[in-house]
Amino acid sequence: MTGSPSLRAYLGLGSNLGRREAYLAAAAARLTACGVRVTAVSRVYETRPQDVDAPQPDFLNAVVEVEWDGEPEALLRLALDVEALYGRVRPAQGSARGPAPRTLDIDLLLVAGAGDALVLRAGPELTLPHPRLRDRAFALRPLLDVVPPEPAAGWLGADIARRAEELAAVQGVREWGPFPDWEPDAYTPGSLAPATPPRHVGTAFRCLAATGSTNDVAREWAAAGAPAGAVVVADAQTRGRGRRGRGWHTPPGGALALSLVLRPAWPAGRLTLLPLAAGVAVARAAGRAAAVRCGLKWPNDVLVRGRKLAGILVEVLGPDPAAAGVVLGIGVNLNLPLHRFPPDVRERATSLLHESGAPVRRPAFARELLSELDVWIDALDREPDAVLAAWRGLSVTLGREVEVVHGAETVRGKAVDVDATGALILETASGERRLVAGEVTA
Ligand code: BTN
Repeated sequence: MTGSPSLRAYLGLGSNLGRREAYLAAAAARLTACGVRVTAVSRVYETRPQDVDAPQPDFLNAVVEVEWDGEPEALLRLALDVEALYGRVRPAQGSARGPAPRTLDIDLLLVAGAGDALVLRAGPELTLPHPRLRDRAFALRPLLDVVPPEPAAGWLGADIARRAEELAAVQGVREWGPFPDWEPDAYTPGSLAPATPPRHVGTAFRCLAATGSTNDVAREWAAAGAPAGAVVVADAQTRGRGRRGRGWHTPPGGALALSLVLRPAWPAGRLTLLPLAAGVAVARAAGRAAAVRCGLKWPNDVLVRGRKLAGILVEVLGPDPAAAGVVLGIGVNLNLPLHRFPPDVRERATSLLHESGAPVRRPAFARELLSELDVWIDALDREPDAVLAAWRGLSVTLGREVEVVHGAETVRGKAVDVDATGALILETASGERRLVAGEVTA
């Protein structure tokens, strides 16, 4: 990951050879796999080829909005690599007949930096904004689907929307359909709902752009009668809560903050297994969605190579959990480069983006996690030993000499097992100790 600030950029995609819509979809997927975050896509437009003197098939054109942690020149080079990968051969300079048909053509149209300031460049390799943008309806029309109206008028001229419509009519640009195979990277009830009816998780959804803490929203919803299995998800939290009175950082666009309302009627000693079951679910979802291997640190941290990927916070809402409810809160760092973490946690935190080198589609990860939670909460109902066995298999605590801080006491010893309630069993110099809570510090 680079330390460069994020840029918002707009890329024009075109294809007039072969399965044109498949090339547009492949370009967006390939850019995503290369670390470019595709944040919005335009509709697809069909366009007569411009500036050619021999007949050619019509183009499909679209524009994608992306976020990129680097310089515009590096983004352009990446786009040209993707173009080359899918077969586009650039014509020799000065070709008399104009460009040949092409499977994929990518242009960098516009780049905005901090505070929407337009990034300007003038040079042989890259001129920004693209020098012919105001005259090309096939780029301008889809661009205006994804550029917010205020900056668009400021960057391209107050007349830009009217100009796009007028040019589109003259240049034969017409709507073709939605961008193929693309799912917005946003949490919505539709993007999170399970394909088959859930047993325990995903009975109702609240998806928020930003909130103080999803655990607080879930608590209030539980008090107001939320059904068991109700889920609150937020794009960002302003007062995310961690364990032991700490905060939890959830900036927009990069993480998953999820809280689940449960009303379990479990026998005594079972509820304390819930954080362990949740850790197993997160670890398995990370493995499936991003091929990242996680380890579980007792009682409920999800680590990758010693850094924290996710945290779990269980809050019991009253003496009878079946009636008052329990809130299971999970925070997972998804598409956060390390420089987006606050300095005090940067050395200890990680994200799926950092570990796998590629952004994950956040709703797809959330669906994977909800489905794993459904499996492991069902296991808590019916075969809690399976949860313990799965946790032991992923544990990075068992078998190690550790120090556990519990209140004012620090206990040292070898972590040998967890018991049926999830308590940690330590072999210490003065005999076996059973710890129901605490923080493993070494
Ligand atoms: C920890 O300290 O390890 C636990 C962190 C838990 C964070 C999650 S994010 C979703 C939910 N809302 C919160 O305010 N906290 C939890």
